[in-house]
Amino acid sequence: MNFYFDRPEEVPKERIETMKKAAELTVRREGLDPDLLEVSVSFVSPEEIRSLNRQYRNVDRVTDVLSFPQFESADEIRTFGENFGMAELGDVVICPERAAEQAKLFGHSEEREIIYLFVHSMLHLLGYDHMEADEKQEMRTKEEEIMTILGIPRENAENAGEETGKLLFQKAMDASLGSWSPYSGFRVGAAIQAMNEEGDTGIFTGANVENISYGGTICAERAASVKAVNAGYRIFLAGASCSPDGTASPCGICRQFLSEFGPDMVFFFGPDEDHLQRKTLSELLPGQFRFSKMLAGEAGRNGSVNNDSEKEKE
Ligand code: THU
Repeated sequence: MNFYFDRPEEVPKERIETMKKAAELTVRREGLDPDLLEVSVSFVSPEEIRSLNRQYRNVDRVTDVLSFPQFESADEIRTFGENFGMAELGDVVICPERAAEQAKLFGHSEEREIIYLFVHSMLHLLGYDHMEADEKQEMRTKEEEIMTILGIPRENAENAGEETGKLLFQKAMDASLGSWSPYSGFRVGAAIQAMNEEGDTGIFTGANVENISYGGTICAERAASVKAVNAGYRIFLAGASCSPDGTASPCGICRQFLSEFGPDMVFFFGPDEDHLQRKTLSELLPGQFRFSKMLAGEAGRNGSVNNDSEKEKE
């Protein structure tokens, strides 16, 4: 396979070699001959990827990876190859700085994050997409299989994202002091780390607010969520909840509420900061209800129409 790397010095040499292996494995698994394919890979700064994201997807924020496919499917690539020989799959643009931040947050290595992003992007170049839940599942399964073959599977370490978990837990505990809970006597605090469209992250906290008409009660997790969303921080990355009066974990309606803004977020809870459970939202709420077209396509997250092109994918 032919690779055109732009600024390969932005990542360690061994990573480039693993990327090449990852790309060849990905295409081979789709029944394509790597010798007839080429791909361009650029490493860019957060400012550069934001500008590309704005230019091509009309989304003005920093992102981790952008993919610019030249073909619709592996079949189309195969037919092209049979007729013309070499096929240029397209461009992959990766922001290593952003990948490093995400690796820290998710508690795995930078290598895992960059290779994972690259495999994800290679699958886009081969025509895969994640607009619909079943497509997303297929893509995720392929990604995980490739990562496992490469020997860098997801580290399901107990302590993944430990620092983030502890910090959020402490903030949630402080926030619980703002609870209004005269009926249950159970104070709950929550903290959510979220990102806005510009790629800035912030931590928002909340506490439960009860009501004499009991059903009017608002949980800590939703109190924190609305603060984040109202401030424009609509991409939830991580969260924690806790109580000075026992162990709190998000209730069903809060799990549903969180899934709107953080389908892939991680959540921490436990009796104290040294005994935290770390769960992904899909573990807390399996089979999340998603109106994926509405979230990812014609109507944007703010309800307005966005101009995401068919071709350029994150
Ligand atoms: N509570 C929360 O704040 N979060 C949850 O997810 C579970 C329940 C609050 C609501 C109510 O004020 C109190 O805990 C007892 O149910």
